[in-house]
Amino acid sequence: MVKLSGKTAIVTGAGSGMGRAIANLFAKEGARVVAVDLNGDSVEAVVSEIKETGGDVVGVTGDVMKQDDIDRMVEMATKTFGSLDILVNNAGIMDNFLTVGEVTDEVWDRVLGVNLTGPMKLARAAIHVMEKQETGGVIVNNASVGGLFGTRGGAAYVASKHALIGLTKNIAATYGTLGNIRANAIAPGGVNTNIGATITAPSELGMKAIQGAGEAPMGEAEQIATVALFLASDDSSFVNGDVLKADGGWTAR
Ligand SMILES: NC(=O)c1ccc[n+]([C@@H]2O[C@H](COP(=O)([O-])OP(=O)(O)OC[C@H]3O[C@@H](n4cnc5c(N)ncnc54)[C@H](O)[C@@H]3O)[C@@H](O)[C@H]2O)c1
Repeated sequence: MVKLSGKTAIVTGAGSGMGRAIANLFAKEGARVVAVDLNGDSVEAVVSEIKETGGDVVGVTGDVMKQDDIDRMVEMATKTFGSLDILVNNAGIMDNFLTVGEVTDEVWDRVLGVNLTGPMKLARAAIHVMEKQETGGVIVNNASVGGLFGTRGGAAYVASKHALIGLTKNIAATYGTLGNIRANAIAPGGVNTNIGATITAPSELGMKAIQGAGEAPMGEAEQIATVALFLASDDSSFVNGDVLKADGGWTAR
């Protein structure tokens, strides 16, 4: 039996890596998917991939940092599919492991904008829909082990992911216990995606710090998609405000 039948899900960063795997898996599990990405070509690619397998999907080319685009994403869910049941805040960017002594205002603002402010604005818009639905809704935030430990990214990345986990707990503690909306976070370790290509000029000091954490076992995007499915489905109906690490044991050492 499929696990997301009749549910509408927005997945950001759906054009690549984990977002693409999540969008594909959710569609296979019966969800109507709104696949969002900044990159229009990758939106088209994931939409045709899902349609080829008989899935229900619409694409939105948009930026999670722009309120107008966020409004379009939510409208696409409610007007095309009639509800918004699941939000996966997955889009995220890295920061070249820049330490606090090295980070520029521009990098700080962009990383915090995409990884934290965008997810907050999307969660806010989604909650305005979900709180009116009898069935409520579910929010899954793709954080990182960088949201739990100090060395798995630069200052901006680590700060943004710690704050995203804080936001997740706040949503869970308010709308979860006093309403019908659950929110959980995933903390992936190393995963083979296209994000590595954005590490163009890594900070020497930042890289030294992450090397101290030992080599990360590498996972595949599909291994995170199944974690997202668990958190988005009724299988996790009593899990709220939690952070599920999926790092192959990297941080257990
Ligand atoms: N790959 C890893 O090792 C790893 C580990 C821990 C956490 N994460 C997190 O997982 C999430 C997914 O990353 P990934 O590794 O699949 O990366 P990826 O680069 O393969 O995919 C990210 C997608 O997000 C899109 N995107 C970027 N900025 C956007 C914006 N402003 N608006 C809309 N879309 C935007 C990109 O175009 C891209 O398609 C990120 O939040 C990342 O921080 C990744």
